Amino acid sequence: MYTGITEKKELPEDLALQCLDLYHVYGTELENKVVALRGVSFDIKKGEILSIIGPSGAGKSTLLLSLGGMLKPSAGQIIFSDGTDITKLPEKFLFEFRRKKIGYVFQEQNLLPHLSAEKNIEMPMKLLNTPYLEIKRKSKELMQRLGIYHRRHHIPTKLSGGERQRVAIARALANNPEIILADEPTGAVDAETSVQILELFTELSNEFGTSYLICSHDPIVADFSNRSLEIRDGIIIGEHGMGFDLENLDQTRLLVPDNQGRLSIPEEAMRQLGGVFLFSWQVTEQGLLLKPIKSPERREGPKIKFCPSCGLEIPPNTYSCPRCGTKLTRVVH
Ligand SMILES: Nc1ncnc2c1ncn2[C@@H]1O[C@H](COP(=O)(O)OP(=O)(O)O)[C@@H](O)[C@H]1O
Ligand SMILES: [Mg+2]
Repeated sequence: MYTGITEKKELPEDLALQCLDLYHVYGTELENKVVALRGVSFDIKKGEILSIIGPSGAGKSTLLLSLGGMLKPSAGQIIFSDGTDITKLPEKFLFEFRRKKIGYVFQEQNLLPHLSAEKNIEMPMKLLNTPYLEIKRKSKELMQRLGIYHRRHHIPTKLSGGERQRVAIARALANNPEIILADEPTGAVDAETSVQILELFTELSNEFGTSYLICSHDPIVADFSNRSLEIRDGIIIGEHGMGFDLENLDQTRLLVPDNQGRLSIPEEAMRQLGGVFLFSWQVTEQGLLLKPIKSPERREGPKIKFCPSCGLEIPPNTYSCPRCGTKLTRVVH
């Protein structure tokens, strides 16, 4: 269907999306360059609810914009289930592809201000020339499921923040996309609405096999996710299964090596080891064994007092910046 594409890659049957070695650099002038993604690779399974967690500035929104085809990453591949790599898709095919396959829910809801809630939800279906009766049936069903049917004739400014968010979600779901990308979808709504939204996501993933990728630091989102990936400074450093504590990530994190084999050693491990700078390594029957080498002169290496990324003064024995989350290898003792 998308003739501008010469190559297609077969994805395993159970995958909705595969993201390979994604890089993104903002800015063109040297001094203004920001490397927001530094080799991000992961898969999303069909029907999976996957969340992305990480401090502000870690690259979550950049990742979502890239996966949604709204930002062209500097390098890497984003392959959907039919084998299409959207980073190679010419603009005119990309519009149609996005409309059919991807639903977005973003922080700023981007509702059309002069249209009612109902008309906003109907818009993506009209753009795909969906039959009128089907549009009416689908928008009614979504509004009922999200508890906004009684508000359908109101324009966005007459709706509460929570109601606007639910309209944005209904609109994202209207075309039964294969994948929903949501950037902090519960950020501006109360806990009850958050649960309602996540329950609907879960129902739809079971009913239609819809996959969800949700950037969020909301414990409710973490509770409903099948899996969560932890992103820091533009790389994925860890993965968590179901039922983990956002305040104690070290307890449940499985370490993920980045595309160059680098592992991020947990802060808690560094604290317990007392800040070592060298490890000997060995592959044993148990796996990879890292043994700290406590060389006194090594421990006397240059100490830093300020975070190299944001400049915050670092309190003693701290292994990541309390403000921006940057990992610190040399710390104030
Ligand atoms: N349009 C932009 N131009 C330049 N830098 C940007 C832009 N958008 C984001 N950044 C930078 O890229 C990094 C990642 O940002 P972002 O993806 O928004 O992170 P998050 O969503 O995790 O808070 C940050 O350092 C941010 O300042
Ligand atoms: Mg963001």
